Amino acid sequence: MTNTQDGDGAGRAAGIRSAWMPGFYKLTMDERVARIARAFELSRDEVASLHASGALPREVADRMVENAIGTMEIPLGLGLNFLINGREYAVPMAVEEPSVLAAVSFAAKAARAAGGFTAEADPQWMTAQIQVARYGDAGRARERVLEARDELLALADSLHPSLVARGGGARDVEVRVLPSPDGGEDVFVVHLHVDVQDAMGANLVNTVAEGVAPLVEALTGGRVYLRILTNLADRRLARARCEIPVAEMADRGASGDDVCEGVVQASRFADADPHRAATHNKGIMNGVDPVVIATGNDWRAVEAGAHAFAARSGRYSPLATWRRVDEFLEGTIELPLALGTVGGTLRVHPAARLALRLLGNPSAGKLAAIAAATGLASNLAALRALATDGIQRGHMGLHARSVAVAAGAPMHLVDRVAAMIVEAREITFDGATRALATVAGAAAALTDVVTGESHDLAHVGSHGR
Ligand code: HMG
Repeated sequence: MTNTQDGDGAGRAAGIRSAWMPGFYKLTMDERVARIARAFELSRDEVASLHASGALPREVADRMVENAIGTMEIPLGLGLNFLINGREYAVPMAVEEPSVLAAVSFAAKAARAAGGFTAEADPQWMTAQIQVARYGDAGRARERVLEARDELLALADSLHPSLVARGGGARDVEVRVLPSPDGGEDVFVVHLHVDVQDAMGANLVNTVAEGVAPLVEALTGGRVYLRILTNLADRRLARARCEIPVAEMADRGASGDDVCEGVVQASRFADADPHRAATHNKGIMNGVDPVVIATGNDWRAVEAGAHAFAARSGRYSPLATWRRVDEFLEGTIELPLALGTVGGTLRVHPAARLALRLLGNPSAGKLAAIAAATGLASNLAALRALATDGIQRGHMGLHARSVAVAAGAPMHLVDRVAAMIVEAREITFDGATRALATVAGAAAALTDVVTGESHDLAHVGSHGR
């Protein structure tokens, strides 16, 4: 298969059905880096940042947060096989949980059979909220704010001339009068929508909220307290969709029809029950958050927005749904994704810059579309596993390696110990400790035979207690 690369890193679709980098996970880490370095024409420094433990220099970390004492790393991997709007993507994902990268790569591969994902995002509007208290007559206050719409927009734009020069700026004013939560006056809120272009936009919008507050006070005769963005960025939604041929869903003796039925039933379950919807959405965020983190974005904002959006009808609901349409399993996802590709952490964190580069330096909207597709993929993989032999086989099989490390297995024995505890269906710390003692005992006995030396194995398996 040809691996067609555009100059900006992302590739055009080569062979729709075939995986983009087959067998990638079977390579050593060094071999993977070499592959990626070739495919994306990485510079020496970029490759060095992948090799280095500690891609974030301490002195940079010290300037990013207060009271810094070090940095904390999590693995950065690639979600493979993604074909989104006809383009190939290897999606950088920073995540501590085993099986997430395998899961999205699996689902993205299944989605290729019918052309991969289509995905899109709204214009990048963020919303400032300005709360007014003691406004008197709500109808009159509302009227005066709406009459001053153009003045408010102009004032907001004057606070961000460079945003306006880049094509962004304030777009609309809205007034919401919300029923009193406690018997006092109704809650009066002015919304100011701002097109933040490729920024995440929190700082831009907060400046706007604070900058227009005196005018809002003058217009309403009230007192402004809160002036802050909303993380329920529902003017900034991203959507993704895929169709998977039913036959493609067949798995280990289960027919495609049966697996599809299981996935559709899982979707119905999440629609009916917020308890299930929470776990369903966690499976979606397994795909979304790692992209958000790898690209240096604010995942707390994304999480808050996603879950508030899931509850917008008054009942917590799934962010993605699955249904069967003829011979296809159709999945759709919609969620707010306030992501930036300029400014903020991105500019200072070398790994975040590299992650964006691997995605072809996308616009904020494109990045949101990619993250939405990744969330849909992780949801599908989890539901397919749940609908067939359960989550434990695939997930715990890969988790076994972490358990082996936690039990103190030296790196050269990790895979052997992991294989033993998977085989014995005992993927626990104690299981790994016992397996390690067996493996290490056998290795030591062999050394004794060869060298005639004896070994103290007391330390083996004691790590991590
Ligand atoms: P499988 O069918 O055994 O996979 O599934 P396979 O061996 O047939 O391989 C198929 C493809 O999967 C491969 O294609 C790879 O793309 C990928 P290939 O490259 O070989 O042509 N793949 C891998 N990629 C990297 N490393 C690997 C690897 N293995 C396969 N080692 C799989 C195995 C793990 C994919 C499957 O069992 C799965 O998707 N499980 C779900 C895992 C998951 O969702 N984990 C998240 C944690 S659970 C959770 O937090 C959420 C949950 O609660 C959400 C909910 O309830 O909805 C479950």
